[in-house]
Amino acid sequence: MKIVATAAILHFCLCATAAVSDSDSTETALVAAPGDVAALPCYAVGNETPILTTWVKNGQEVASSQTPAPAGQRVTVTNDGSLRIGRVAPGDEGTYRCSSTLPGNYTFHARVSLRVSTGPENVSTSVGPATALSNGTLVVLRGSSVSFHCSGSSYPSQRLTWAFSGASSSNDSLTSTANTTLDFRIEDVQPGAQGVYSCRAHNPVSGQAVNRSTQLLVYYVPDRRPDCAWAPARDPSQVRFNCTWSGAYPTPTLLWGDGDDQGDPPAHRVGSGYASDRGESLSLMLNRSALSDGQTLRCAARHPALAAGTETSCSFTLKSPYPEGEPLVTALAATSVTLTCTEDVSLPPANTTWKRGLQQEDIVPGSKYVLFNDGPARRLTIHNISKEDEGVYFCRSENPLAVRELEVYLTVKTSSAYTGVILGVFIAALIVGSAVIVAKTLHFNRHRMCLGNGFGQMEEDSGDVLSLVESDDEQIFRDAVPQLPPIANGHQTTLVQIHRIPSSDHEDAETADTSPQEDTAQTEPPGDLLTL
Ligand SMILES: *[C@@H]1O[C@H](CO)[C@@H](O)[C@H](O)[C@H]1NC(C)=O
Ligand SMILES: *[C@@H]1O[C@H](CO)[C@@H](O)[C@H](O)[C@H]1NC(C)=O
Ligand SMILES: *[C@@H]1O[C@H](CO)[C@@H](O)[C@H](O)[C@H]1NC(C)=O
Ligand SMILES: *[C@@H]1O[C@H](CO)[C@@H](O)[C@H](O)[C@H]1NC(C)=O
Ligand SMILES: *[C@@H]1O[C@H](CO)[C@@H](O)[C@H](O)[C@H]1NC(C)=O
Ligand SMILES: *[C@@H]1O[C@H](CO)[C@@H](O)[C@H](O)[C@H]1NC(C)=O
Ligand SMILES: *[C@@H]1O[C@H](CO)[C@@H](O)[C@H](O)[C@H]1NC(C)=O
Ligand SMILES: *[C@@H]1O[C@H](CO)[C@@H](O)[C@H](O)[C@H]1NC(C)=O
Ligand SMILES: *[C@@H]1O[C@H](CO)[C@@H](O)[C@H](O)[C@H]1NC(C)=O
Ligand SMILES: *[C@@H]1O[C@H](CO)[C@@H](O)[C@H](O)[C@H]1NC(C)=O
Repeated sequence: MKIVATAAILHFCLCATAAVSDSDSTETALVAAPGDVAALPCYAVGNETPILTTWVKNGQEVASSQTPAPAGQRVTVTNDGSLRIGRVAPGDEGTYRCSSTLPGNYTFHARVSLRVSTGPENVSTSVGPATALSNGTLVVLRGSSVSFHCSGSSYPSQRLTWAFSGASSSNDSLTSTANTTLDFRIEDVQPGAQGVYSCRAHNPVSGQAVNRSTQLLVYYVPDRRPDCAWAPARDPSQVRFNCTWSGAYPTPTLLWGDGDDQGDPPAHRVGSGYASDRGESLSLMLNRSALSDGQTLRCAARHPALAAGTETSCSFTLKSPYPEGEPLVTALAATSVTLTCTEDVSLPPANTTWKRGLQQEDIVPGSKYVLFNDGPARRLTIHNISKEDEGVYFCRSENPLAVRELEVYLTVKTSSAYTGVILGVFIAALIVGSAVIVAKTLHFNRHRMCLGNGFGQMEEDSGDVLSLVESDDEQIFRDAVPQLPPIANGHQTTLVQIHRIPSSDHEDAETADTSPQEDTAQTEPPGDLLTL
């Protein structure tokens, strides 16, 4: 633009005045690379051929059209007055001035600045230590140290800059220099350092720039091993095994198979593989019939960040349930008893529950039954025990391999002193009662006796029922008299009421008097009332 504008003015001057113009009217800037042929223009605004042109650099004449150049001269003045440099070399840069004499005795001056520049060339980078993927991308492991090196050459100078462009951050100038090489180092590489690293070599003279980019991936694995878990499948004939290994980059490959877990065995240690896939978790469904006690299932994880040929794994050995506990439990009536069953063998963990009776009825927790899990122990507490609670209980333990049960027999006892007293009272009552009955029977049946009917007749339609009634401990009293016959369907029922227990250590018995007698149904048909 400047040249054109100046040229237009110049042309105007030449035409209009043809005046002497001896100022440096034009200035041209040229950049040439070494080896180039450079042509520095002098009078380039008109079409007159200059008569004489002389080129001067730093006050010294470089060439002149007056002195014909010998053949092979590197620097010559061409017919149009330009200075031709046959093969530019470093050192040719500088400001050149020319003076041209045009026809009509006009003199023209011009100035040309020549800059010699080359490059950047041979720009190269190296990053390491790193592993190259087939597409040229480099891989380093998290925690390692990585060196970045960049070099290039250019004349007269260059600027080297390392730039970074990552997923979460970018930096156009990590480091920069005017040197031929530029190095930097990252200690303890973290995933955030993953991205594209570019070394840019820029020649400020020519404005030329060269980029060399390298994609760097940071691989990593978690410190922990994979996690082997299990879950019941929707189909009860199957069990789901779930292997999880998160926190690895890139995505690992997981394999389920049989085998043990001694260290990090080489890949071939995975015996029969059940499943294999890329992903952070791998779920495996196995038919229960395919599982056996003692079988070891193993999940192995493979990843490029693990040492070549190694893998990390988790495993577990399947075990059938084995509930353990006391098979015989004795408890005192009216107290509480806790049955304990411990299941700490089963793998996968068993579903361990308490069942009641031979029918294995479910036990519904409530005020009577309290279920409590204490680590591997399943505790069943039975409150306010009565004779009805006596019997068999099962601790049922089930896992996908098997069902095993622990049988616990609960015996309910009344206290022996108590029982002795009751029995004593009962026997006494029985003797007295029998005496009375016999007496009364003799009395009522005296006519029959006279008629010769035996006692056998009488015994048939008379049942002696002893109902031992006492408010709080009614149940115990009944239970303590096990051989009583059922209530007879007919007549001659005898009711025995015990109002007072002649036992000083039983306070409840003291209040027995105050509780009304409820078993009135047994008093009819009229029978003999025996009161002690
Ligand atoms: C041209 O001008 C120079 C001085 O500027 C003078 O010496 C010379 O004689 C002139 N030549 C002609 C042909 O007029
Ligand atoms: C660039 O590299 C080429 C080949 O490796 C070499 O011949 C040339 O001299 C190098 N150029 C510079 C400026 O170093
Ligand atoms: C090179 O390959 C890796 C892994 O396959 C991929 O993540 C990366 O994007 C590739 N790089 C380029 C430049 O294609
Ligand atoms: C770019 O990197 C340089 C050198 O590490 C640092 O001083 C500068 O803060 C960084 N800039 C950004 C935007 O991260
Ligand atoms: C350029 O790098 C070299 C070696 O890498 C070093 O010796 C020299 O001091 C550096 N020059 C400048 C100006 O930094
Ligand atoms: C060179 O790198 C710079 C950033 O450093 C970028 O802006 C530019 O686009 C790159 N040029 C090429 C040709 O890749
Ligand atoms: C496996 O476990 C992981 C983590 O616990 C969970 O996110 C995933 O849903 C599980 N997969 C299956 C199929 O259960
Ligand atoms: C599990 O195995 C049994 C016997 O081997 C077979 O009958 C059943 O179909 C299998 N179930 C599934 C879901 O594969
Ligand atoms: C455990 O078994 C009982 C029945 O015995 C069942 O109701 C319950 O859902 C099972 N629990 C689990 C976690 O399978
Ligand atoms: C104990 O059980 C008996 C029946 O077996 C019941 O009548 C009594 O109310 C219960 N006592 C308590 C405190 O639950």
